[in-house]
Amino acid sequence: MEKISVSYKELGLVNSRELFAKAVKGGYAIPAYNFNNLEQLQAIIMACAETASPVILQVSKGARSYANETLLKHLARGAVEFAAELGTPVPVVLHLDHGDTFELCKECIESGFSSVMIDGSHLPYEENVALTRKVVEYAHQYDVTVEGELGVLAGIEDEVSAAHHTYTQPEEVEDFVAKTGVDSLAISIGTSHGAFKFKPGEDPKIRLDILAEIEQRIPGFPIVLHGASSVPQELVQTINEHGGKLKDAIGISEDQLRLAAKSAVCKINIDSDGRLAMTAAVRKVFDEKPEEFDPRKYLGPARDSLKKLYVHKILNVLGSNGKA
Ligand code: G3H
Ligand code: 13P
Ligand code: ZN
Repeated sequence: MEKISVSYKELGLVNSRELFAKAVKGGYAIPAYNFNNLEQLQAIIMACAETASPVILQVSKGARSYANETLLKHLARGAVEFAAELGTPVPVVLHLDHGDTFELCKECIESGFSSVMIDGSHLPYEENVALTRKVVEYAHQYDVTVEGELGVLAGIEDEVSAAHHTYTQPEEVEDFVAKTGVDSLAISIGTSHGAFKFKPGEDPKIRLDILAEIEQRIPGFPIVLHGASSVPQELVQTINEHGGKLKDAIGISEDQLRLAAKSAVCKINIDSDGRLAMTAAVRKVFDEKPEEFDPRKYLGPARDSLKKLYVHKILNVLGSNGKA
């Protein structure tokens, strides 16, 4: 086993294994919030410290190149200390979101990530199994947990699936989990990435029946939902009232997510709602106070609005409050 440059344990981070086991038993889900910059990270940690919620900090490939991976690593280390300074140390997982190659997962593990996703969902089944297995074998040597995916979501994965979902086939999950050794499984049940998840007039429902069937086949196994933003209409309205142009933005109902969180779904990914919260706040300042040019005067309100949104999710959707 080669020596990696920094282990997540030295950074004060944890992997997701124990958090997921508790979440599945306790009928709640852990927030997986994406971050790309300081204000997003501050909002996430402030929300989780205030509600005593564990948290999964997600970094996408795009976030990594936007923010610089060295800076991200140090921000994540700072996040652990920051939560403690706020009075509530919370378990923090640093997770690679949508890793697409073995090399990217390896690089992240070497630079201090405690969890990685290998998203082989676009590949033929056997290739997905082989790639996921390879990442698991590498990651487990360092006690890093791995999320795999079966089924394809619409949204950013549109390149392959066009505008429709390929739902996870429940009959594949036992085989996939057994052959790959993954620690959690992302599934496709009608959620999708971005702010335009349903067309106007469409029934905005997710397939909780497929989730139930998957749960029956792999009881207690940690399930992950991607594309779980709810696209709060008041945020869309604020954006549009202040010069934005978001037409027909529709998300997943929070009631449905709450039901999912009570089941074996133990990680719920939310990124777009945060983008909407920040954009609404920034647009409002630009529109109402055109004389402002200090970034703190618009990024500050954006951070406050993001924190409020994340507290709301923890308390009313995920149920992870008090579980730190
Ligand atoms: O699922 C994707 C996340 O929302 C991250 O998006 O790749 O634009 O950073 P990104
Ligand atoms: P949303 O676009 O619905 O926020 O989903 C985010 C996500 O799945 C990140 O992996
Ligand atoms: Zn995703």
